[in-house]
Amino acid sequence: MTDAPKKIKNPNTQTVTEVKHWTDRLFSFRVTRPQSLRFRSGEFVMIGLMGDNGRPLLRAYSIASPSWDETLEFYSIKVPDGPLTSKLQHIKVGDEIIMRPKPVGTLVHDALIPGKRLWFFATGTGFAPFASLIREPQTYDDYDEIIMCHTCREVADLEYGRQLVESLQDDPLIGEMVAGKLRYFPTTTREQSPMMGRITHKLEDGSLFKDLGVAPICKEIDRAMVCGSLELNIDLKRILEGFGLEEGANSKPAHYVVEKAFVD
Ligand code: A2P
Repeated sequence: MTDAPKKIKNPNTQTVTEVKHWTDRLFSFRVTRPQSLRFRSGEFVMIGLMGDNGRPLLRAYSIASPSWDETLEFYSIKVPDGPLTSKLQHIKVGDEIIMRPKPVGTLVHDALIPGKRLWFFATGTGFAPFASLIREPQTYDDYDEIIMCHTCREVADLEYGRQLVESLQDDPLIGEMVAGKLRYFPTTTREQSPMMGRITHKLEDGSLFKDLGVAPICKEIDRAMVCGSLELNIDLKRILEGFGLEEGANSKPAHYVVEKAFVD
């Protein structure tokens, strides 16, 4: 009698363990983490599904969970006619997705020189890398104050980030580190909410600093990470450089770093 062949899991596929729909345009999900996968909080990987032509259909996705987490979380938009997200939005627990386990990216602590205050600027699903970084102990070891700014069109679009920030206080691992250090600044642009307006406008007219009761950005103290649309990134680069900050990279750390929120 011969043993039944053992089922060997394809290292390039991972199993969906959780799916949560936030709005009709936004969802998050978790998948198993390959044992061999090491990444730095803030990095991204290629994930996707098999296309109709039998070839993998992959897109860059920031890992939204921190480097210490046992599973991997992703936060995604749903584009009705988007080649990948029109299908990916229907995944269920137990389904398999494809993942190329080669994490890369510039929204990492290594790309910044030491500072005291760290700004995270996100729009829309650009929140994903910061969902990782605000759960990363190094963020709180390295900085005295972290300000998480997130701008979305509508109030419901903020919910994933809002709930995550709120839950951190009770997190057994980093709850104590977060307390008194992390500030959350959500704004909306197309629906009434307590804080309204594009973050770029609030930086330019100084109302961001006034609303937060903090000193304006300066290169001696402040470091920043930016993740949003191409236009937002270009506008924020100009604004941050106006404050004297210089763009950093893995190979040349400096005052701020930028990455495009990939899937649109
Ligand atoms: P707005 O509603 O004024 O366009 P999107 O859903 O299009 O990705 O946008 C997400 C959020 O980012 C929206 O609140 C949008 O504001 C804002 N936004 C888009 N482009 C810019 C930009 N160049 N500068 C500042 N905010 C922007």
